[in-house]
Amino acid sequence: MNKELVIVLDFGGQYNQLIARRVRECNVYCEVHPYTLSLEKIKEMSPKGIIFTGGPESVYNEKAPRCTKELFELNIPILGICYGAHLMTYMLGGKVEKAPISEYGKTEVRTDNSSVLFHNVSKKTITWMSHTDYISELPIGFRSCAITDACPVAAMECTEKKLYAIQFHPEVMHTQEGLKMLSNFVYDVCKCSGNWKMSSFVDETVKSIHEKVGDGKVLCALSGGVDSSVAAVLLSKAVGKQLTCVFVDQGLLRKNEGDEVEAVFGPDGLYDLNFIRVNCKERFYKKLKGVTEPEKKRKIIGEEFIRVFEEEAKKIGTVDFLVQGTIYPDVIESGLGKSAVIKSHHNVGGLPDYVDFKEIIEPLRMLFKDEVRKVGIELGIPEHLVFRQPFPGPGLGIRIIGEVTAEKCFIVQEADAIYREEIAKAGFDKKLGQYFAALTNMQSVGVMGDDRTYDYAVVLRAVNTSDFMTAEPAQIPWAVLGKVASRIVNEVKGVNRVLYDCTGKPPATIEFE
Ligand code: XMP
Repeated sequence: MNKELVIVLDFGGQYNQLIARRVRECNVYCEVHPYTLSLEKIKEMSPKGIIFTGGPESVYNEKAPRCTKELFELNIPILGICYGAHLMTYMLGGKVEKAPISEYGKTEVRTDNSSVLFHNVSKKTITWMSHTDYISELPIGFRSCAITDACPVAAMECTEKKLYAIQFHPEVMHTQEGLKMLSNFVYDVCKCSGNWKMSSFVDETVKSIHEKVGDGKVLCALSGGVDSSVAAVLLSKAVGKQLTCVFVDQGLLRKNEGDEVEAVFGPDGLYDLNFIRVNCKERFYKKLKGVTEPEKKRKIIGEEFIRVFEEEAKKIGTVDFLVQGTIYPDVIESGLGKSAVIKSHHNVGGLPDYVDFKEIIEPLRMLFKDEVRKVGIELGIPEHLVFRQPFPGPGLGIRIIGEVTAEKCFIVQEADAIYREEIAKAGFDKKLGQYFAALTNMQSVGVMGDDRTYDYAVVLRAVNTSDFMTAEPAQIPWAVLGKVASRIVNEVKGVNRVLYDCTGKPPATIEFE
């Protein structure tokens, strides 16, 4: 198949991968590259179109990122967004200035429907703006095709050269008809036919991994979560038994989870790969004995995981490639590195320093979570794995407040299983962002039969969130909560009270530690 490609050139904006993702939503394959990508390379890739992203700089600053002028002469359609629009203006002889009024947030734009960018877009449409500079003079050959109250050039075009630019961000959800505009660009300007599908991603990734790995050995830390599962299956399709997956069952997993993962990936499972399950819960409980400080617990679990993995890797011998299920949000989160450490998230990201290998393979690096799930479905991975809720690396270790013991793990596993069962029965499982039971370290007095009890309180958490950076407590019907509470106190020994967490994030976090 002739692969159509649109390139996003990254000038340092916040939403670069989002642009690529929106283009992929239009069934056109799209990749993000740094703005320094050479002209030769671009010609070699022969894209159907190029999109310049936004960026934090002012185009007149000396250190502002630039592109070569020749790029505009290749007869490849270009769409400049925000900073990208300024750059196009500046490079082609127009003028960019500090705007008398900066526009931030939702802004009404009046569009000229005769521009192909705005075909079938409302004449007045809400967009997302974030700029202090604006285009004050058009380059020769361009015309303005959208305005706002404060901005005489909210969009411009030079149809002859297939050059387009917009001041606002079509890629973010707040730009109500942004996807339509991007689709107009890729279909009507770039003349893409839209023949790319997730299945093409799967085929091409499998093929390229196969070529890259040759007859090398590949190692994968499989957690059973969606990202590492999808990465492992892609690898298994590409290299079969050259892949070994190590699954560390550290005793901090949800009820039956270890067996479920083994059923799918183990010797009687669905895939052609080597599967090693390391049952080492006693080892972890021993390390965690007496430790109550959340960060210390996280560090111990993370380090012990690495030790176990390292030991297994040594048994396998020389490994050529290490597979990681890194997805795009992991890349930005770890790339920023500027924000305060709220929690040291333990991911397999810590592994490379400890295992001897030649190269890392990260087949999902440019995908968002829901795209990874689509890949999972394409690959035929069972739905209960693909749509599994996020589960933290340190597992139940951070859902047990205070010291972790085998007894407490059992309590929280049982309570959580009941909670999940009832939520699913009530039909809320696909509607909630994340939900789970945790164990407080509070013991309190209760009465069961004629006896006084002094037992633990389980806390139920359910949140709605789209990005997991902020979250709202979910309003679960009382009847469902009541049923869960009564089942937990009746069925789980050691619990006499069930609480519901009504806090959002911020000020709380989703997990308890
Ligand atoms: P918090 O508790 O920070 O959680 O509000 C946000 C999201 O991240 C998940 N989480 C983790 N994921 N390793 C992970 O891979 C971790 O250490 C970790 N801690 C929290 C949490 O479940 C929620 O989805």
